[in-house]
Amino acid sequence: MPREKVKQLMTSEPGRDVLVKGWVRTRRGSKQVSFVALNDGSTINNIQVVIDMQAFDEDKLRLITTGACLAVEGELVKSEGRGQKVEIQAKKIEIYGPANPEKYPLQKKGHSMEFLREIAHLRFRTNTFGAVFRIRHAMAYAIHKYFNDRGFYYLHTPIITGSDAEGAGEMFRVTTFDLNDAPRDKNGGVDYSRDFFGKETNLTVSGQLEGEMGALSLGEIYTFGPTFRAENSNTPRHLAEFWMIEPEMAFYDIDDNMDLAEDLTKYLITYALDNCYDDLEFLNNMIDKGLIDRLRFVLDNEYARITYTQAVDVLLKADKQWEFPVGWGKDLQAEHERYLVEQYYKRPVMITDYPMDIKAFYMKQNDDGKTVRALDVLFPFIGEIIGGSQREEEYDKLERRIKELGMPREQLWWFMETRKFGTAPHSGFGLGFERLILFVTGMKNIRDVIPFPRTPRSAEF
Ligand code: 4AD
Ligand code: MG
Repeated sequence: MPREKVKQLMTSEPGRDVLVKGWVRTRRGSKQVSFVALNDGSTINNIQVVIDMQAFDEDKLRLITTGACLAVEGELVKSEGRGQKVEIQAKKIEIYGPANPEKYPLQKKGHSMEFLREIAHLRFRTNTFGAVFRIRHAMAYAIHKYFNDRGFYYLHTPIITGSDAEGAGEMFRVTTFDLNDAPRDKNGGVDYSRDFFGKETNLTVSGQLEGEMGALSLGEIYTFGPTFRAENSNTPRHLAEFWMIEPEMAFYDIDDNMDLAEDLTKYLITYALDNCYDDLEFLNNMIDKGLIDRLRFVLDNEYARITYTQAVDVLLKADKQWEFPVGWGKDLQAEHERYLVEQYYKRPVMITDYPMDIKAFYMKQNDDGKTVRALDVLFPFIGEIIGGSQREEEYDKLERRIKELGMPREQLWWFMETRKFGTAPHSGFGLGFERLILFVTGMKNIRDVIPFPRTPRSAEF
């Protein structure tokens, strides 16, 4: 008999024999009859297995405890219980793997997120993490669907690079050298010309620079891959390894870029509501009572579109004691971003035209000589979810900026050539995948929306 998944069985008609396989969530009952809630990961819902205690071996029955893995054959029958249409009257039970109840770390009582992080290998077995990771999958699929349906090509940009796209110096080095015995050059420095790639290399902080090469030939591309930042930020919004979606589009200006950012994020939220409702409802009940309303609210409202200068004006007029001072030229901090989104505009906010000095070298310079065509998209409870810009496509301006910042020009020769040969106006942005999942699931800590988080001093599993 072929195995069927719980998700399909829940909506199928009773009156036939079926085979299910899954893990025991709970078991209750009496000497005569046992009720087992079985979950196979296909849905937040468990299927109820009814076991006639007289019909099975006592030795076998003893092994059916929370966490054990079973295969159950039986008749799918109409359920008298509340909240389920069908249940299984067990005829045959095979125990794949028992789970010693004295030792199994997951108990029926609710566990803290911190504790579950310590058992990240088992936390998928909880309702919350099942829901989060089903939604994460759905969002990844929807991202590919969105771009594919609109003629964007998925471009695989490298994970090992020789450049620092963001110029922030927050990179993990890649080397095959023995750190205690690395070859030295004549000045006593490490001689990377003898390293694996013949130069200094690191894990990428962004696929953008290579993505631009793709856009300037293929038109519209996107990347969707892991990125790495060695910033020592122990916050609920930062990971050292996170996934980023980076669309890059020839012939888009900053307004087209904003339109795409708004359309993409709204599409993804709509997709979650249409396809993950059971899981969202569970998270709405258990994690964040405002979740579903908030998702709907974002869909029903246009994002505010303001410049950095306007944002600073709003903040200066606010009747607030800021921890970090506000002033033209200073970067916006989380407290400022959250005020703009949650209290002032009360919807997502897109901010453009930041001071040149606080943004990356590749952003298009405005005629005022002070600002660049940057774009940050801020979301309620998350803050920055997207960072991007229109790109500087003029060779001379870009060259000057690279020099001003003292960046290693020779490493960027290939990037500059696209400005030399057939340059074009273009734009793009990076959507932080885990920040999106935080918003869509209502989870509070970014470590709880990636299967195995990497953060300072933590790379278990
Ligand atoms: O604003 P960022 O640094 O922009 C870039 O990397 C550009 N190259 C993107 C582009 O224009 N193609 O990062 C983009 C987004 C942020 O808005 C945030 O959502 C996420 O990536 N992000 C992080 N997410 C988790 N942990 C971190 N340490 C993150 N740093 C950035
Ligand atoms: Mg940013």
